[in-house]
Amino acid sequence: MSADETLAASAAGRFITFEGIDGAGKSSHIEALAEWARARGAQVVLAREPGGTPLAEKLRALFLHEDMDPLTEALLVFAARRDHLREVIEPALARGAVVLCDRFTDSTFAYQGAGRGFDLAVLAQLETWVQQGRQPDLTLWFDLDPTEAARRRAAVRSADRLEREDEAFFTRVRDGYARRAQAAPARFVRIDAAQTREAVRADAFRALASRGWFTERTSDDRRA
Ligand code: TYD
Repeated sequence: MSADETLAASAAGRFITFEGIDGAGKSSHIEALAEWARARGAQVVLAREPGGTPLAEKLRALFLHEDMDPLTEALLVFAARRDHLREVIEPALARGAVVLCDRFTDSTFAYQGAGRGFDLAVLAQLETWVQQGRQPDLTLWFDLDPTEAARRRAAVRSADRLEREDEAFFTRVRDGYARRAQAAPARFVRIDAAQTREAVRADAFRALASRGWFTERTSDDRRA
């Protein structure tokens, strides 16, 4: 099957994405969910955007550190996404793996669309071209107040180009996520990221388990 046919084919795997403003803490939960799914026999692929392939990682470095206009930002993240879909995500889904992806197209609508004010219709057109119908099966949105997110970011890391944006920017990004969630309620689960780390993690596990995913235990588990 060609990569394009693979891209169009509906696959047996599960595609789960993680979203939220910088500082909401989503990344720290992805590894735990991966372990949980693996313990239940799932083949798990961890991914992130922009990035995930040698080419896309190069685009990520440009994206995070060079100044550019919003259209260039959008084109770069969708170019990286196209390569990532063809090289990693679609093949993994086709062999039945669970792909856990740290950010995907909702980030583009939230950051470039709502944050930068870039034309949503153009983003929707790029989404159609690049994804050819592929959408996440589930999106966990780690939602946090921008003031608290800024406080958490300042405590742990030096800021990249986007993280240096002001609070008004992150308020727009958060609103952008809210609109994406409203438009696709079956796909989105909002998680209150202001809770303790344990409570956030429990909500994330519940979102997967309530869909009946990974409830099968491996034979090793059953014997134990
Ligand atoms: P992320 O990997 O979450 O940052 P970090 O490794 O520093 O935690 O995301 C990188 C940045 O890219 C983040 O600020 C959000 C931004 N971004 C966009 O603006 N548009 C996009 O489409 C994507 C995927 C990310």
